[in-house]
Amino acid sequence: MPFDKNILCIGAGYVGGPTMAMIAHKCPKYKVTVVDINPVKIAAWNSDTLPIFEPGLDEIVKKSRKKNLVFSTEIEQGIKEADIIFVSVNTPTKMFGVGNGMAADLQYWEKTARQILECAESPKIIIEKSTLPVKTAQAMERILTFNNKVHFDVLSNPEFMAEGTAINDLEYPGRVLIGSHQTPDGLKARDELVDIYTNWVPREKIITSGIWSSELSKLVSNAFLAQRISSINAISALCEKTESDVMEVAKAVGMDHRIGSQFLNASVGFGGSCFKKDILNLVYLCRHYGLYEVADYWEGVVKINEYQKERFVMNMSNAMFNTLAGKKICLFGFAFKANTGDTRESPAIFISKRLVEEKAEVVITDPKALDNAKKDLKDQDDKVSYVEDPFAAASGCHAIAILTEWDLYKTLDFHKIYSSMTKPAFLFDGRNILDHQMLFEIGFNVYPVGKPALTHF
Ligand code: NAD
Ligand code: UGA
Repeated sequence: MPFDKNILCIGAGYVGGPTMAMIAHKCPKYKVTVVDINPVKIAAWNSDTLPIFEPGLDEIVKKSRKKNLVFSTEIEQGIKEADIIFVSVNTPTKMFGVGNGMAADLQYWEKTARQILECAESPKIIIEKSTLPVKTAQAMERILTFNNKVHFDVLSNPEFMAEGTAINDLEYPGRVLIGSHQTPDGLKARDELVDIYTNWVPREKIITSGIWSSELSKLVSNAFLAQRISSINAISALCEKTESDVMEVAKAVGMDHRIGSQFLNASVGFGGSCFKKDILNLVYLCRHYGLYEVADYWEGVVKINEYQKERFVMNMSNAMFNTLAGKKICLFGFAFKANTGDTRESPAIFISKRLVEEKAEVVITDPKALDNAKKDLKDQDDKVSYVEDPFAAASGCHAIAILTEWDLYKTLDFHKIYSSMTKPAFLFDGRNILDHQMLFEIGFNVYPVGKPALTHF
C-alpha cells in the first residue's frame, strides 16, 4: 500500500532519531526515512543496540522499523523521494576563523542545503529542526532558489525536547512551534506541517509565527532555562557564605507562581550540547548587531556556569586540607544529566580535568556514560580509571563527588561504601540528591551545594 507522504530527516542524532521515530509511530500513513553521513550510526539505528540511550526509545523504534521507519545512508535517494525534509544536522560552536568560540558553525547546514538543491527533482518543504541563528532560513532560501530549478518552502520548527525525557516530551509536547513566511506559499507549507503534528498533538498546543521569531524563540528559550540555573547557582555561592540553604530559598522563591518552581535546582553547573552553544550564539548575534550590553548580559549566564564548576573543585580542595595531590576521588556520574548516556559539555569533563591538574587520581562510575567518558578523557588516561560498580569504584577513595543525579545513587548502601573508603571520608553532593544528615551520621564529611557543610572537624 503506498504511503500518503514521504518524510525525510537529514541527521540521525539525538534529535533526528527520536523525533522521526515519534512521527513514524503516530503517523502510520507516512513513510519516514532518516539519513546520515555516518554509516556506523545508521547501522546502530538498524540494530538491536541503538546509538543513543533514551528511556522508551527502543520500543517505538523497534516497532516502527517493521512498518514505516527506515534508517539509511542513501541521502540522495532520500532527497529525491521526499515531499517534506526535516534537517537536524549538528550546529556546534564554530572553532575557527570569524566567530571562533562563539558563532554557530553552519557548514553542515550549508552542505545539506546544497545537496538538497542538487538532488531535488520535485517541489519540497524544507524544515529547520536544528537550532540555528536567526535569519538562517534566508541563507537557506538563497541557496535553494538561486537557479529556480524546483520550488522550495522553508519553515522553522525548532525542537524543545530534553534528553532523558525525550519520548515523553515528543509525545506530549508543551508546545510545537512552526514559523513560516506569511505568504500564500509559506502559509500553505505551514498548514502541511500542522497537519502532521495534529495526528497526535492537540491543535491549541501548535503555535505558529513568523519564521524569524520562530528561529529566535528557540535560542531565547534555551537562554532563559540556562539563566534560571545560573541564577540559582549564583545564589548557592551566597548561601554557602551565609549559612542559608539554597533548597529552602528555591522553594520559597519558586512558590511565587509568577516565578515557578522548575529549573531551580542548584548544581555543579549545567551541561549538555546546547545551552552553552546556543547562548554563545545569541551573544554573537547581539554583538553582530551592535547590542553590546545585551550580549554582555547573556554572556554572564555562561560565565556563572564556568564559575560554578571551578567553585566546586575549589570547595573540594579547601575541604580536603588544601591539597588534592595523590588523593583518590570517585565521581558518581559522568552524564550531563540523569537518564542519558550523553556527556557533551558535561560538568564532569571539566571537573575530571581539573582534578587531574591538581594531581588527584580520578575514578569514574556511571550506569550509561562510561564509553563516552573514555572518549572525552582519552588524553588523561593514566590518571583516570573507569569502574561500572559504584561500590568497587568508591573503595579506597578519599572522596566521592556526585555529578549526575542518577536515581540509583539515592538508594546505595552508604554504610558499606563508607567502610571501604580512606578516612576521613568526604562526600561532595553536586546535585543535592542524598540524605546529608544520614551520611554525616555514618561518618562522612558532607558538602552539599548551597547548604551548610556537615563535618566532624
Ligand atoms: P547530533 O550530533 O547528535 O546529530 C547530528 C547528526 O547529523 C550526526 O549524526 C551527523 O553525522 C549528521 N550530519 C552532519 N552533517 C550531515 C550531512 N551533511 N548529511 C547527513 N547527516 C549529517 O546532534 P543533535 O543533538 O541531534 O542536535 C541536532 C540539532 O538539534 C542541533 O542544532 C541542536 O542544537 C538541536 N537540538 C538538540 C537537542 C538535544 O537534546 N540534543 C534538543 C533540541 C535541539
Ligand atoms: C535542554 C532544554 O531543556 C530543552 O528544552 C532543549 O530542547 C534542549 O536543551 C536543547 O535545545 O538541546 P537538555 O540539555 O537535554 O535540554 O536537558 P535539561 O534538562 O535542560 O538540562 C540541562 C542541564 O541543566 C543539565 O546538565 C542539568 O543537570 C542542568 N540542570 C537542569 C540544573 O543544573 N538544574 C536544574 O534545575 C535543571
